[in-house]
Amino acid sequence: MRMEYVHGYSAEEGTRLTDQAATLTELLHADTRYPPGSQVLEAGCGIGAQTVILAGNSPRATFTSVDVSAESLAEAERQVLEAGITNVSFRQADIFDLPYVSAHFDHVFVCFVLEHLPNPAGALAALMRVLKPGGSITVIEGDHGSAYFHPDSEHARRAIQCLVDLQRQAGGDSLIGRRLYPLLVQAGYRDVTVSPRMVYADATRPALVDGFTRKTFTAMVEGVGERAVGQGLMDEASWAAGIRDLHRAAEDDGTFCYTFFKAVGLR
Ligand SMILES: C[S@@+](CC[C@H](N)C(=O)[O-])C[C@H]1O[C@@H](n2cnc3c(N)ncnc32)[C@H](O)[C@@H]1O
Repeated sequence: MRMEYVHGYSAEEGTRLTDQAATLTELLHADTRYPPGSQVLEAGCGIGAQTVILAGNSPRATFTSVDVSAESLAEAERQVLEAGITNVSFRQADIFDLPYVSAHFDHVFVCFVLEHLPNPAGALAALMRVLKPGGSITVIEGDHGSAYFHPDSEHARRAIQCLVDLQRQAGGDSLIGRRLYPLLVQAGYRDVTVSPRMVYADATRPALVDGFTRKTFTAMVEGVGERAVGQGLMDEASWAAGIRDLHRAAEDDGTFCYTFFKAVGLR
């Protein structure tokens, strides 16, 4: 079982996901703690970049982390073992065909997954089925339309748009952050709240400049360079200028902004 998605499953992408999770730990995870004894499903755990943080923050909850990619699951298992975390079990499974009885889990957590799915509403419905009445779902997604930076650059904006277009071509939506509220409400979740989480990086926050501007966002855009140029979305020189200008925003007089959206709803 293996699916293709815009970022792929390369070692570089694994490193990027780990850098992303580590850099954004406080911003995205500070208010997520699960009670002792609760059963939590992490859907689309990838290589375990969020799993290590999630399970580490709620050591007395029990996590089941699933993904369609066996290769990613093997790496996730390795990371969790290395971190000395013992409250997670892994299983290869498809969100749309979960091998669990209805109302099996107390809570569901899903991060950076819906943006890759042609049918995010269907995924939310499938996740609701395995959630107990009164249980919570937490969904975290980005929105590439929220990226702006200084110095501004037409080339850099076009390069980001290539990623948006390629992800759409692959059936996903990298602008999904702004849609989380209606998606959850329409799927039937109640008491839905969405909180925007803004990253702002300048030279006074060197860890964020390096971990987010360079190693998370710019690395993600760079990852689709071959396809963007190969499909003629941008010519090679304009693409190189776009990437150069994104790196420029990580220099001492540059700034970079991006907003993640974190939604919580109840079944
Ligand atoms: C961008 S990665 C995010 C991984 C992790 N949640 C994180 O934040 O680092 C998206 C993951 O979703 C998984 N995925 C995509 N469609 C899926 C599906 N239908 N069922 C389960 N996992 C899926 C992919 O295999 C991939 O590992």
